[in-house]
Amino acid sequence: MAYAEKIKQFGESGFVPDGWYWLVRSGDVKVGKAIEARFLGTELVLFRGEDQRVRAFDAHCPHMGAHLCDGFVEGNDLRCPFHFWKYDQSGKCIEIPAQQDTSKMPGLRSHKVAEAYGLVWLWTGNPDDPEEVPVIPELRGIPLDSTLGAQFTKNCHPNVVMINAIDVQHFRSVHQLIVDLEMKVTPLSDRCIQFSNITPMPEKNLFLRFAKRFYHKALTYEMTYWWGHTGSVMVGPDFLHFYIIFALRPTLDGKTEGQTLLVTKRRSGLFGRLVNPVLLFATKLVGNYFAKGDTIIFSRIKFKFQTPIRADKAIIDFVEHYEKQKSSENYKVEIA
Ligand code: FES
Ligand SMILES: [Fe+2]
Repeated sequence: MAYAEKIKQFGESGFVPDGWYWLVRSGDVKVGKAIEARFLGTELVLFRGEDQRVRAFDAHCPHMGAHLCDGFVEGNDLRCPFHFWKYDQSGKCIEIPAQQDTSKMPGLRSHKVAEAYGLVWLWTGNPDDPEEVPVIPELRGIPLDSTLGAQFTKNCHPNVVMINAIDVQHFRSVHQLIVDLEMKVTPLSDRCIQFSNITPMPEKNLFLRFAKRFYHKALTYEMTYWWGHTGSVMVGPDFLHFYIIFALRPTLDGKTEGQTLLVTKRRSGLFGRLVNPVLLFATKLVGNYFAKGDTIIFSRIKFKFQTPIRADKAIIDFVEHYEKQKSSENYKVEIA
């Protein structure tokens, strides 16, 4: 069987692996105001209650279908703009002005959301799964500072954007890297897989021999792919690692909407206030470097992985990992 025919889930818009997907920027969800959001075919209403927590429900009122983003946030509850039915923070209908008894009224389907790195994220798997929002493994549990980088759209499926970061052939051709990276694969869990470069810094010239002093083991480049379509990168010399998260989500028409996140350790006091903005800006430049060069390829590609070669090993490993991912029925998409 041809390799491309064995692939069932990878790059398929109809398959949405359970995961955390970014919805909107946190700053767009103000206390006391409802806004609309969308994930694939699911229309959502988001609002921030007086307790500062963001909640997400199906967008349309089960009475007659008014869009609840035109409604009113009251404390941590939401009132429909049409006939003023009121829903509590779990989505239960708790008040109907024209009727005493609300006990038999349908509620709103609520969605599991979380905030991290300045974004609101939607969990599409089983709501009881205790899965954490994607992290950079090296920074797990450490207080962080982060800023939002570029927002972008790519004319291909998120999987195609993701494998770009482990596509060692193209690092040399498109990005003119003078080293051939070799990726070691480490599954971190059923849903999370890590690729780390094990190639040492070469010593071809004086500059590289100097640079090697800052890369004691290998040229540091570590990419961690989480459930869903998010990747986190660690890159840089031994004494200063840069951290970038690429949060991607699929669209109904087979494209990718992405948001880059720049992350660093929180540093306290005046030192932190001075140094961290500089570091985050430097991280942004690193991120831009990665993003540059592929744009023209992504604008016209008709992705079909037909002829894998040995140098595609990391990509093949990722495809295999992705083929094992699960998808709950909640956010299923019918592609025309
Ligand atoms: S449509 Fe919402 S209360 Fe009637
Ligand atoms: Fe690239």
